[in-house]
Amino acid sequence: MIRTVGVVGCGLMGSGIAQVSAEAGYRVVVREVSEGLLRKGLGRIEAFLAKGVEKGKVTPERKAEVLGRLEGTTSLESLAACDIVIEAAVESLDVKREVYRALDSACPPQTIFASNTSSLSITEMAAVTRRGARFVGLHFFNPVPLMKLVEVVRSPLTSPEVVEEVHAFALSLGKAPIRASDRTGFIVNRLLVPYLLDAVRAVEEGVGSVEDIDRGMELGCGHPMGPLTLLDFVGLDTTYYIANIMFDDFHERRFAPPPLLRRMVQAGLHGRKSGRGFYDYSQDPPKAMGGLV
Ligand code: CAA
Ligand code: NAD
Repeated sequence: MIRTVGVVGCGLMGSGIAQVSAEAGYRVVVREVSEGLLRKGLGRIEAFLAKGVEKGKVTPERKAEVLGRLEGTTSLESLAACDIVIEAAVESLDVKREVYRALDSACPPQTIFASNTSSLSITEMAAVTRRGARFVGLHFFNPVPLMKLVEVVRSPLTSPEVVEEVHAFALSLGKAPIRASDRTGFIVNRLLVPYLLDAVRAVEEGVGSVEDIDRGMELGCGHPMGPLTLLDFVGLDTTYYIANIMFDDFHERRFAPPPLLRRMVQAGLHGRKSGRGFYDYSQDPPKAMGGLV
């Protein structure tokens, strides 16, 4: 039975996962690598709930109750009493393997491990632990508090009972879970990532301006955000890691990171979280970057 949820990482995704778990009534322990990042991550949750109060969607009492269920830590060992640990660390196999080795020693054998990875192999991460049967993918979507979908991913090692338990857990968070097997990118990113990368290639090739490419997909296809706004939202760094992982696996051009994406990541233009990407977020409304290519 899941009562306490551990979350590794309080970045864009980890903070959202910690928030929705606390909103659903679970006790949550969220771990960051430093006190500074922990403050920033918990601040993001506080700000989201404060905006909810402003919008009249959340009462001040409810906000206090949700925040009261959240505990921050910088130690992985503090997650030892959790029934499920959801990992949302940076999209790097080396980093995630190191996290799982440490967690596997710290947590009792019954603790379920769930990775929020976008593109890494669940099987490969599970293999560094002694709990392959209790290891799943649990892929949330950004922004976690607003997006309904969660992909529940089983590896060949995952036990069917654990898949069912995690599926029920996702439902208890108010999410709509779908099931996928452990193929790189699962269902959504297999389709979404080539589209996002094609939008960068369209900028590179001068097919249209940043704004017009975005407007084209918003008004022509009914997408809530154009692809370049969405890239800024996801993080260009994260998309670049994902593209590299998918290209290494499939060796297909559609997954290859375009040179412009690489150059922007090298330049620290990581999108909304760094203040600049395809748009400059110091302006209101954000201004499309010109002269990138
Ligand atoms: N507290 C409570 N409720 C809030 C809130 C808050 N702080 N902020 C917003 N809401 C509510 C709003 O009141 C609104 O509710 P109603 O529908 O009842 O009016 C609802 O949430 C939507 O909010 P907004 O109107 O402010 O937002 P929007 O309509 O502009 O939509 C969005 C925002 C959901 C982000 C939308 O632009 C969207 O869907 N964008 C695309 C996101 C996407 O594609 N995400 C996937 C990325 S890929 C990924 O995640 C996978 C990966 O591995 C990379
Ligand atoms: P982020 O950059 O906002 O956060 C990264 C997190 O990793 C931070 O908490 C950071 O402290 C932590 N981290 C960095 N180095 C670390 C290390 N050496 N050891 C442990 N932790 C470390 O990234 P994010 O967007 O929250 O992505 C986190 C995970 O979620 C990734 O696997 C990503 O692919 C996945 N994901 C991202 C999105 C998205 O739209 N951004 C959507 C779904 C899934």
